[in-house]
Amino acid sequence: MDLPEAATTQLTPDLRICRLLNGLWQVSGAHGAIDRRAAIEDMVAYHDAGFTTWDLADHYGPAEDFIGEFRRRMAANRGVEALATIQAFTKWVPEPGRMTRQIVEENIKISLRRMAVDALDLLQFHWWDYSDANYLAALRYLAELRDEGKIRHLALTNFDTEHLRIIVEHGIRVVSNQVQYSLIDRRPEVQMSQFCQAHDIQLLTYGTVGGGLLSESYLGQPEPTRGVLTTASLRKYKQMVDAWGGWGLFQELLSSLKHVADKHGVGIANVAVRYILDRPAVAGVIVGTRLGVAEHREDNARSFNVILDAEDHAEIERVLAKSRDLYQLIGDCGDEYRR
Ligand SMILES: NC(=O)c1ccc[n+]([C@@H]2O[C@H](COP(=O)([O-])OP(=O)(O)OC[C@H]3O[C@@H](n4cnc5c(N)ncnc54)[C@H](OP(=O)(O)O)[C@@H]3O)[C@@H](O)[C@H]2O)c1
Repeated sequence: MDLPEAATTQLTPDLRICRLLNGLWQVSGAHGAIDRRAAIEDMVAYHDAGFTTWDLADHYGPAEDFIGEFRRRMAANRGVEALATIQAFTKWVPEPGRMTRQIVEENIKISLRRMAVDALDLLQFHWWDYSDANYLAALRYLAELRDEGKIRHLALTNFDTEHLRIIVEHGIRVVSNQVQYSLIDRRPEVQMSQFCQAHDIQLLTYGTVGGGLLSESYLGQPEPTRGVLTTASLRKYKQMVDAWGGWGLFQELLSSLKHVADKHGVGIANVAVRYILDRPAVAGVIVGTRLGVAEHREDNARSFNVILDAEDHAEIERVLAKSRDLYQLIGDCGDEYRR
């Protein structure tokens, strides 16, 4: 399977990525058991299919170690040059509190060691509590580590527009913000996208296929109970669907998406992904992968072949217009994570 040229983009002038990133929260344990050997083999298969960009975090169970093992495997089998074709983006999610250079550096060193890299391609910083302004100190130390070569690019996850603005005004350069963004959750469109476009910051999105809810598997199905939803991801996005408009409206959306998908000879998930890939400021969509358990490579590659036209957008919009305003209900991007 060869991905088209349009499947990749420059996240920064020196960092080319696949616009569909492989998300590794799914190996954390909250989505069922993962076999290490099968997982690493699957990582090679993703890479060979063109899905060369990974999204992970310090707290996603063994995800950083998997990157380390995958890199060692690639170097042993294909030579160290092959490592330049992998992009691995991690996160640092510290507890709020005083931030010193030592605390920041020690945590970054752990990720460097686990991932077996000399420099982190992209470090995405998360902060739980805006009433604690130490996030600015943490970001200043992270910027120092970037300038010293331990981090290639500094980025954020789940920051709202107000605090992204504060960071930019403090002269701290970040290249991207990772946020929830889907047909269900369009909060980034209220102000985040515009701010990002104005400041050359890109969005990496999650929740775009709603843990799998935005697919044929749930079309025409009765409302699933919590017990039926077997991954943390499905449970998370079912709650979003409930807040957004409920299962009845969600079925209307799935029916419209199916109509659009059939017209283009693709699946519902492809339309859901394409819709977000086409939004302003979006560099990439992260799709979670339960390595060694389930894979949707060929299916998801079809997202790159769809062009949604005005008629498709109008049909989708007719349903979205009936939904509740999640920005009013929850707040800006990431507000659901604030303590
Ligand atoms: N920054 C943050 O706070 C944050 C939060 C959440 C997630 N993330 C990132 O985003 C990644 C994605 O996580 P997510 O929770 O948003 O999950 P997601 O990508 O919305 O859902 C992943 C699941 O969707 C299903 N799926 C994928 N492609 C499909 C297709 N073509 N057809 C049908 N089903 C398909 C798969 O289910 P099966 O495995 O059952 O087949 C897969 O496990 C995470 O791994 C993580 O990297 C970040």
